[in-house]
Amino acid sequence: MPQKHLYTHIKSLYGITTNRPKFKAGKDMADFKNIENAWLLVSENGTIENFGEIQTVPEFSGPVTNCLGKLMLPCFVDSHTHLIHAGSRENEFVDRIKGLTYEQIAQRGGGILNSAAKLNLATENELFESAFDRLNQAIALGTGAIEVKSGYGLSLENELKMLRVANRLKSVSPIPVKITFLGAHALPADLKSEPEKYIDLIVNEMLPAIAAENLADYMDVFCETNYFSVAQMERLLDAGWKVNLKPKVHVNQFNSIGAVQAAIDKMAISVDHLEVMTDDDFKALKNSETLPVAVPACSFFIKIPYAPVRKMIDLGLPVTLATDYNPGSSPCLSMPFVVSLACINMNLLPEEAFNAATLNGAAALELQADYGSIEIGKKANLIITKPVESLNYLPYSFAENWVERVVIS
Ligand code: NIG
Ligand code: FE
Repeated sequence: MPQKHLYTHIKSLYGITTNRPKFKAGKDMADFKNIENAWLLVSENGTIENFGEIQTVPEFSGPVTNCLGKLMLPCFVDSHTHLIHAGSRENEFVDRIKGLTYEQIAQRGGGILNSAAKLNLATENELFESAFDRLNQAIALGTGAIEVKSGYGLSLENELKMLRVANRLKSVSPIPVKITFLGAHALPADLKSEPEKYIDLIVNEMLPAIAAENLADYMDVFCETNYFSVAQMERLLDAGWKVNLKPKVHVNQFNSIGAVQAAIDKMAISVDHLEVMTDDDFKALKNSETLPVAVPACSFFIKIPYAPVRKMIDLGLPVTLATDYNPGSSPCLSMPFVVSLACINMNLLPEEAFNAATLNGAAALELQADYGSIEIGKKANLIITKPVESLNYLPYSFAENWVERVVIS
């Protein structure tokens, strides 16, 4: 029988919101509201019942945790991962050390096709076991809600296999899992010269099968030179909408080809990556409801530019941070490291980076009503840090695991 739990003497309780904001944008992103010397009560159904300054702590006879010297934060929401995959790609990592680029490796049949070949040989059980292990690693690092994509199947059978694994994860996961169909991640080797045939397969066979079993929440496309064009993305997103899959798309990782505006026109929930941005791309975002999602661990790992999120915030935009966990361009499950990278290499203030990684992450998964901040009635997915000096210490100490405990509901 679940019971209430009281946390007392929290050095500082961070990430407090009122009136359930949809997300934070522009100057508001620097406001990661806190109460010093705080208490927080979790209700028996795992939501935040109340919180306040220690002088106002209620009489309580149930279990109590003293958090003296420690900070409490809302859990991270990692809105972009490729959590399900078979094997790893450390050979490509060494190829990059020797001078090849991510794109050159993909051109020779490595990259996504390398992972697709491995995934095709893996069973559903094997994929589930490894992804479940990664999910638990992510939770231990403070992630309290997550998105997972397909996209290493690249055939009807194997995309459905990935999505079934994703749904199995969702059914056993202690944290919410949102599922994105990324059939249009790359052209499969056998249809390399017949892109329209593969797109027909996605539209005429994969999407109806996904809809029939209700296997996904979102539709993704890797819109990029040598992958899928803007026109192809538009056709794919229209087909996704017909079966109620809302767009969340990979755009502007290596080239700006008009994908940001096109995704916005298709009412994308988010546009992810954005390492290469033109003035028109900024303008398009400014006039939209679509959330920009940056993935700095990918920039760090494959040595490409960082998304210009400082400029986005200065323009008044909301910014979201995610890991882009995947075996090729970002083998990183750590949202704490992503927050550090955002401060170190993107010039975000710690408060901005935490808002980007919590509330705005929740918004990018349409979970902001229940996740992403400390507010009465929201789910009590909480991080308790080790004893630390201040919030600023967390991104500063970039290779330390400062997460002491993760409370899930
Ligand atoms: O988000 N850009 C496309 N997809 C992934 C990389 C996938 C891979 O290399 O396996 C990304 O970086
Ligand atoms: Fe990605």
